[in-house]
Amino acid sequence: MFNTEPRAAVASLGASRIREVANAGMGRSDVLPFWFGEPDQVTPAFIRDAAKAALDAGDTFYTHNLGLPPLREALATYSARLHGRADVNQMVVTSSGVSALMLAAQLLLNPGDRVVAVTPLWPNLIEIPKILGAEVVSVALRLNTASKAPAWELDLDQLLAALTPHTKLLLLNSPNNPTGWTISRSQQGSLLAHCRQHGIWLLADDVYERLVYDGLGGALHCAPSFLDISDANERVISVNSFSKSWLMTGWRLGWMQVPVSLSAGLGKLIEYNTSCAPGFVQRAGMVAVEGGENIIQSSLTRYTSARDYLVAQLSSDAFRAAGIIAPRPQGAMYVFFKIEGETDSLALCKRLVSEAGLGLAPGSAFGTEGEGAIRWCFASSIEKLEQGLARLAGFLARR
Ligand SMILES: Cc1ncc(COP(=O)(O)O)c(C=O)c1O
Repeated sequence: MFNTEPRAAVASLGASRIREVANAGMGRSDVLPFWFGEPDQVTPAFIRDAAKAALDAGDTFYTHNLGLPPLREALATYSARLHGRADVNQMVVTSSGVSALMLAAQLLLNPGDRVVAVTPLWPNLIEIPKILGAEVVSVALRLNTASKAPAWELDLDQLLAALTPHTKLLLLNSPNNPTGWTISRSQQGSLLAHCRQHGIWLLADDVYERLVYDGLGGALHCAPSFLDISDANERVISVNSFSKSWLMTGWRLGWMQVPVSLSAGLGKLIEYNTSCAPGFVQRAGMVAVEGGENIIQSSLTRYTSARDYLVAQLSSDAFRAAGIIAPRPQGAMYVFFKIEGETDSLALCKRLVSEAGLGLAPGSAFGTEGEGAIRWCFASSIEKLEQGLARLAGFLARR
């Protein structure tokens, strides 16, 4: 008999618990879906038109491994505006943000390498290093409920202590999916100095950098980034995506900003993974990055209202009495709220789908530290949030 099993590192990967809940209700018109990290609006017309025009002009061929030169130029201009520095040779176009994360892992990680990740965290980020045989050590954010406004917080000393000279890579996503926690400039400075001292790579997942609230993003509306304070040729990689900033989740287009010394290796890896991102999709990405600032502004206005509404409602007496603690996220597009006493968020989310027609993501999908919480994506209309809240209230009353 032949062994037809995948290798052990693949067999032991966790299946996405968000998918597990969504599979129970996807396609059902009676379910209100807030489970995925996805805006409920289609990509703006001027971006769709650019893709159509490229297709009509015959843009149906392979492109360069590292991306179309004019798109790489546009990305360098964009990044230089936000972060003060970028060279076109540092910019690498990828077929999605998640593909960029996989490429970074393939580029740097050997089996047995130690990766430190700040959790709760989007499951893909926790599982990708494991595919390469690396070990992932979690440092958990804490929900501070002592003050009047509950908040997810990082214990910087705990993270610094976990970053030993044996650590290969620090994986940090800020603004964070699922909590919305956003790292401060001073925390970044301490972490960068520590990583420099110990030769640790820093992989920054910056896909939500433009979705930051309450003035934290300054005049440029951009979260603090390690790109702002690091040099071009040090061990810092920033991963980014067109999905969230320009409402392009289904297009599968992302990019990374890397030290120039990595570009050639990345070119080889891209050749053997996808060879290139589709040309007509890259053309659409170019108009998005060059002319899409108004999209970001209108998303910020819309999401700020949605966030404020959802947090205020979940913090009302009725929900508080049911044990809900809802911190106000500083960035991204999720409220990650706790339900006191809850120990099986997966089972709860499945029941919410079947008994209340409400699609939310279980906290345990984001690592064991996320258990007891639930993620609600608020990139949605107030009307839909209102309906969802009514369903949650009804469910809790019947429970
Ligand atoms: C933290 C984080 N990083 C990366 C991604 C990947 O985005 P995409 O693959 O759509 O570009 C996501 C998507 O949800 C995310 O939440």
